[in-house]
Amino acid sequence: MQVYQEKSTVSYNLEDWQKGYESLKQEFDYWIEDIEGEIPPELHGTLFRNGPGLLDINGQNIHHPFDGDGMICRISFTNGRAHFSNRYVRTPGYVEEQKAGKILYRGVFGTQKPGGWLANFFDFKYKEIANTNVIYWGGKLLALWEASEPYRLNPKTLDTLGKEYFDGALTEGDAFSAHPRIDPNSNLDGGAPCLVNFSIKPGLSTRITIFELDTTGKVVRKQAHSVPGFAFIHDFVITPNYCIFFQNPVSFNPIPFALGMCGAGQCVKFQADKPTRILIIPRSNQKEKIKILETKAGFVFHHVNAFERDEEIIIDSICYESLPEVEPESDFRQTNFDKLAPGQLWRFHLNLQNQTVEYKLIESSCCEFPIIHPEKVGRDYQYLYMGAADAASGNAPLQAFLKLDLQTGEKQIWSAVPRGFVGEPIFVPRPQATSEDDGWVLTVVYDAAAHRSDVVILDARDLNQEPIAKLHLKHHVPYSLHGNFTNQVFV
Ligand code: CO
Repeated sequence: MQVYQEKSTVSYNLEDWQKGYESLKQEFDYWIEDIEGEIPPELHGTLFRNGPGLLDINGQNIHHPFDGDGMICRISFTNGRAHFSNRYVRTPGYVEEQKAGKILYRGVFGTQKPGGWLANFFDFKYKEIANTNVIYWGGKLLALWEASEPYRLNPKTLDTLGKEYFDGALTEGDAFSAHPRIDPNSNLDGGAPCLVNFSIKPGLSTRITIFELDTTGKVVRKQAHSVPGFAFIHDFVITPNYCIFFQNPVSFNPIPFALGMCGAGQCVKFQADKPTRILIIPRSNQKEKIKILETKAGFVFHHVNAFERDEEIIIDSICYESLPEVEPESDFRQTNFDKLAPGQLWRFHLNLQNQTVEYKLIESSCCEFPIIHPEKVGRDYQYLYMGAADAASGNAPLQAFLKLDLQTGEKQIWSAVPRGFVGEPIFVPRPQATSEDDGWVLTVVYDAAAHRSDVVILDARDLNQEPIAKLHLKHHVPYSLHGNFTNQVFV
């Protein structure tokens, strides 16, 4: 593994960061009273977040946060007030393990049943954990995890209703990724919004299925393709005419997994000598063939956005030098940030005519969880927001939010150092907004000093300013992964 040498001033304390990975076992429902500043009265709607809420089962630590049971947080904004509630997704595995009071399933990212390799030998059953994203679409609240069907929840009570099959568009055992993209203005649907998502069935060749759902939640288009080679694809991007996937160079050796020595996710190995293949799949007609372009190796979990310009597709992505590997023996809580290469923002130009790819580094800070204005998905855009390390170089936990102006190169930053830790921001446009950045950045920030989390509302036009409001929760929220905002309120 390559050791990332560049070292910056340390802005954090590892123990503070670790405390954000304590389980939150209690489920709450309350109006938030402890508020600094004022909640903008025009801010109306619901922020849903999902992430691993349990990092242990009755004291037995899980091996990686990606193996933690999904916990939904709902923060509702109405009339200048805010309400918090959280509920675990009642997957069968969650219910069984809570009843048993111990780990019963192996996790994809290395959580093993107690008893060593013998207890895990040829046990291919993994727990569905519904822990990666949550979205309200077509009147349904869906908890998403890329290796299974979505779980549907009641948005008013957050009770788990069961698996969602979209009237038979999915069948039992099908996957539905955790990274849907919403085309705000779909040409294929007369300008109405459309949710585009995919599923991956990896193997010697990989099956990619693309689903497009109308605003009622019905699957209106579905197409499937086989591409050569194994693929581990977490996210994708869309434009009005294409879905684009990065097939980063990885291989899969199932033997240590089958023998019970590690989790399936730990058997995925990066191949630095092989290129990344960029799969460009037309959304609408079958006349146009899939195009496959090649570029440098590297690994992408999350893309920012893509858009078409003349003969090009332009894609902005957070790239790593390689896939950060989850070691069988190491504990994620002891992560040595200095030894890992940071995620950095790159721009790719795909020329469909010449079949060439050019790329350049846009932002060298360590960053993750990028988001943009929802109306700009698939379109040329000016502003992006993302979690970032406080320092301008090196690798570190995310403690700040960075806003980039892609036209002028101007940067703004709001930092929660030394004791605050951040995750994914969400941009919410202000009603009757007059510019692309006229709105709020909503986030949940872990404050290690108080061992609790704050819902922070920033003015997206100027992140350098102090927050508009900080809503102190009564407890911490373990670091979440992804979420979405809807204009509807369910309290
Ligand atoms: Co993700």
